[in-house]
Amino acid sequence: MVQLRLPQKSRVKPGKTVNVAQGAKTARTLKVYRYDPDKDENPRTDEYTIDLSKCGPMVLDALIHIKNDIDPGLTFRRSCREGICGSCSMNIDGKNTLACTKAIDDVKGDIHISPLPHMPVLKDLVPDLTHVYAQYASIEPWMKTDSPAPSRERLQSANDAELMNGHDGHGAAACILCFSCSTACPSYWWNGDKFLGPAILLQAYRWLIDSRDEAKGERLDQLEDPFKLYRCHTIMNCTNTCPKGLNPAQAIGEIKKMMVERG
Ligand code: SF4
Ligand code: FES
Repeated sequence: MVQLRLPQKSRVKPGKTVNVAQGAKTARTLKVYRYDPDKDENPRTDEYTIDLSKCGPMVLDALIHIKNDIDPGLTFRRSCREGICGSCSMNIDGKNTLACTKAIDDVKGDIHISPLPHMPVLKDLVPDLTHVYAQYASIEPWMKTDSPAPSRERLQSANDAELMNGHDGHGAAACILCFSCSTACPSYWWNGDKFLGPAILLQAYRWLIDSRDEAKGERLDQLEDPFKLYRCHTIMNCTNTCPKGLNPAQAIGEIKKMMVERG
């Protein structure tokens, strides 16, 4: 008989409850996924009720407050706190996004926080990005040229630059590789070993439309594969969740069009 139960160790159990908001005018509870690979225990959800006057307005501020003042073991990635580095992507209130640009006030009720879905977890909110970065390397994300190098930099017209940057700054070149999109994509969940997923395909598109790059044919050859590209079924979760307002689904559609046009 088919066994449809989750493996025992994947069940998230209730964890500890910490309330440091006694007497606070405004308090909120964060329910945070915790997993420690050094302990032979199930993951758990810890609850922290905090005084909002003790931290800044973003979810990342609340996590930093918890780590600094309540529970130093809490582990998450962050760097820029400005929506630029892509490090702090996680699932907040059911949606993949950046903790540093997600306002606490934008979440109603308790704030549920877990790592990006369907990725191996190294610890707490830190996913293992080894595979996605190997996929990123596979598209050779650098400028490839055959023509002799000019004496100065390779120039690009403003119109050509706009192709990559977008007229509103939301073009493919604005991607910060946070992987919110790929980890929101059911096709990537099931076929992530071979399907490149929206983040990497958006990067591939960024190089395909770079007027200075001279390896378009070679790049398309590499993507011409039933899994790498064509496992996108236009579900659109990627575009709906992108915290930078980018449109990976459209970029994937454009790559498919390039495939058809070259015959
Ligand atoms: S397209 Fe958006 S969601 Fe996907 S990696 Fe880039 S910035 Fe993140
Ligand atoms: S900390 Fe850099 S994007 Fe959030």
